[in-house]
Amino acid sequence: MSNFALEVENLAKVYERRGQPPVRAVDGISFSVPRGEIFGLLGPNGAGKTTLLKVLTTLLRPTSGAARIEGFDVVARPLEVRKRISMVLQETAAELFLSVRDNLLTFARFHGLDSREARRRADTVMEKFQITSYAEQKVQDLSGGSRRRVQVSKVFMIETPVVFLDEFSTGMDPILKRAVMGYLREEAAKGRTIVLTTQILSEAEELCDDILIMNRGKQVARGDLNALKLLSAGVYEISLTFDKLPETIASDVARLAPLRSHIDDNSIEIALKAEEENILDIVSGLSKKGRVLRVEVSGASLEDIFVELTKEK
Ligand SMILES: Nc1ncnc2c1ncn2[C@@H]1O[C@H](COP(=O)(O)OP(=O)(O)OP(=O)(O)O)[C@@H](O)[C@H]1O
Ligand SMILES: [Mg+2]
Repeated sequence: MSNFALEVENLAKVYERRGQPPVRAVDGISFSVPRGEIFGLLGPNGAGKTTLLKVLTTLLRPTSGAARIEGFDVVARPLEVRKRISMVLQETAAELFLSVRDNLLTFARFHGLDSREARRRADTVMEKFQITSYAEQKVQDLSGGSRRRVQVSKVFMIETPVVFLDEFSTGMDPILKRAVMGYLREEAAKGRTIVLTTQILSEAEELCDDILIMNRGKQVARGDLNALKLLSAGVYEISLTFDKLPETIASDVARLAPLRSHIDDNSIEIALKAEEENILDIVSGLSKKGRVLRVEVSGASLEDIFVELTKEK
């Protein structure tokens, strides 16, 4: 058996709609994911992330190319694939008319867990996701964020080898999100493979062993965080705090054609592409515009890489 939990070869999905031009939502993507890895799919709105997950989870048939989950082809062996995965898609609905507890129990039973073990796990999982106090409430009566917790908590009820999460943290508060990231790491350490999509770069930066950035259905970059940072060699972040914001600073910043910039009360933050030897000149040029209280220059963050890689050429 292959060492890879996922193998994706030149996969494409084209949506055809009568009277409309076809949309190449996924346009020739290839990658593989070793067991126990957390793999991040990143990309702006409409990049094709959800479509790709739907193909990998057998909800959509690919137009061309191939994908195997734990060695099973998603088109030829969908039932074998389904036994080995759990997923939370963007539009996944929890069973609205069931209570939180019954949602978890039904899901576990569907995946073949015996009912005593299911009850035991439901208690642990609800505790972890801080939904114990709503255990007997119907999901339809919960807030959006709490519903999301119920959806995501389900994947912790069972131990499928592969887990797919489409923007799992939507609507979660930062504290819970941090906790869930910790749980995901624990699951990966046990050997489960996790494939997640996100637009929140810090999330991917913290969580993923390997990242694929896509745009318009195509791969634009791939690698671990260090490799991606190298990719963006020459991108710097500069932040300057003035005692008072110089009047011309907005146009001074604009002249540098930054990848992104942010100006507030008395500080500016810019990311730009430059030769290393010019960075100090740029910083000192900006510093001369006013009285500077604090200067910071750092290498690119994933955010910069993302902007650089997905901007319209
Ligand atoms: N059922 C559909 N029929 C036709 N086009 C679709 C369909 N679903 C998605 N698309 C199109 O396919 C492209 C990719 O959409 P997809 O939802 O996969 O992107 P995404 O990366 O998940 O975006 P988001 O970050 O907004 O969730 C978009 O151009 C979208 O409009
Ligand atoms: Mg999506």
